[in-house]
Amino acid sequence: MSEKIKWGILGPGKIATKFATDLATLPNAELYAVASRSMAKAKIFADKMGFQKAFGSYEAMLQDPELQAVYIATPHVFHHKNTLQCLAHKKAVLCEKPLAINSKEVAEMMASAKANDTFLMDALWTLCLPQILQVKEIVESGTLGKLVSVKADFGFRADFNPNSRLFDRDLGGGALLDIGIYPLMLTLLLMGRPKKITSAAHIGTTKVDEDCAVIFDYGNGQTANMHSSLLARTPTEAYIYCEKGYIHIPTQFHKPVDEITILTYEDLKEKKIVYNNQTIGYSFEAAEVMRCLQAGKKESDLVPHQFSINLMALMDEIRAQIGLVYPRHD
Ligand SMILES: NC(=O)c1ccc[n+]([C@@H]2O[C@H](COP(=O)([O-])OP(=O)(O)OC[C@H]3O[C@@H](n4cnc5c(N)ncnc54)[C@H](OP(=O)(O)O)[C@@H]3O)[C@@H](O)[C@H]2O)c1
Repeated sequence: MSEKIKWGILGPGKIATKFATDLATLPNAELYAVASRSMAKAKIFADKMGFQKAFGSYEAMLQDPELQAVYIATPHVFHHKNTLQCLAHKKAVLCEKPLAINSKEVAEMMASAKANDTFLMDALWTLCLPQILQVKEIVESGTLGKLVSVKADFGFRADFNPNSRLFDRDLGGGALLDIGIYPLMLTLLLMGRPKKITSAAHIGTTKVDEDCAVIFDYGNGQTANMHSSLLARTPTEAYIYCEKGYIHIPTQFHKPVDEITILTYEDLKEKKIVYNNQTIGYSFEAAEVMRCLQAGKKESDLVPHQFSINLMALMDEIRAQIGLVYPRHD
């Protein structure tokens, strides 16, 4: 693998702009290509963000022999198809969350990555952030005693538009897959898979969940409490409660935060860990992809395939409980 990795962006929309901004901060990333369904749009994005080549179709970019890694930034429902396209051309893939709509699609994507001997990573950028790695380390060190409970939320008031990615069922709309995935991934990271899941949701007029509450029971005294909403602005923070103290990740816990707080119950003393963030936060996942590619790895240790499989299985079960169906996929 060459020293610089040649990156392509597939689906240059809102999040792709932020990702490309961070990619430009990494010295071993080459801003190589952009593919859109519209050549004019690809050109505008490439010029603005500093990419060398523009393509008017996704397939055309994937035929470029020099392209090495692709960041897929299309709406959820296209992740499965776009990932299979990239893997068939043996391009390393970093695919936006959620990795797909259901476990069946994820299994096909993993199988394709194996069959093509090509790298695939779910773009769970939060799992690559220094603050989250540190929280995991603190919990695992046992200094705060046994983990008791995780409480996390993600909510904002979205303008209702039945044709938007957030509300249109055919585009994979709903709170759970878009933002509920963040509290879930934190809990799965720290506590693993639960014994029992209890969920409740408000399903709106477009038949997607506009508000979704989930409780995990681990059957051993441990629980987790997660909430996501497109109807209300919620703190979007996380508490990790242990026997001797808790860790608080302030708003917005899924992004780089300036500090986290650790409170110990015995003395009620607060200790702060401060972070000096230089990027929006997408640089960490992109750097992880490049670390893996340069080491010849086909999957990441920070976001292993099994984590993505487990995360999607949780979302499948929650969807079954709240009656959230994506007819073109399920
Ligand atoms: N990691 C994060 O922090 C984060 C934040 C926001 C979103 N996301 C994820 O990123 C993905 C994209 O979100 P976004 O808000 O960036 O979406 P967006 O701007 O609405 O769409 C992204 C791009 O997808 C392409 N696309 C292909 N087929 C499409 C279709 N039939 N309808 C609409 N767009 C289509 C379009 O590009 P062309 O037409 O140019 O091909 C569009 O610009 C979602 O899966 C979301 O979960 C992640």
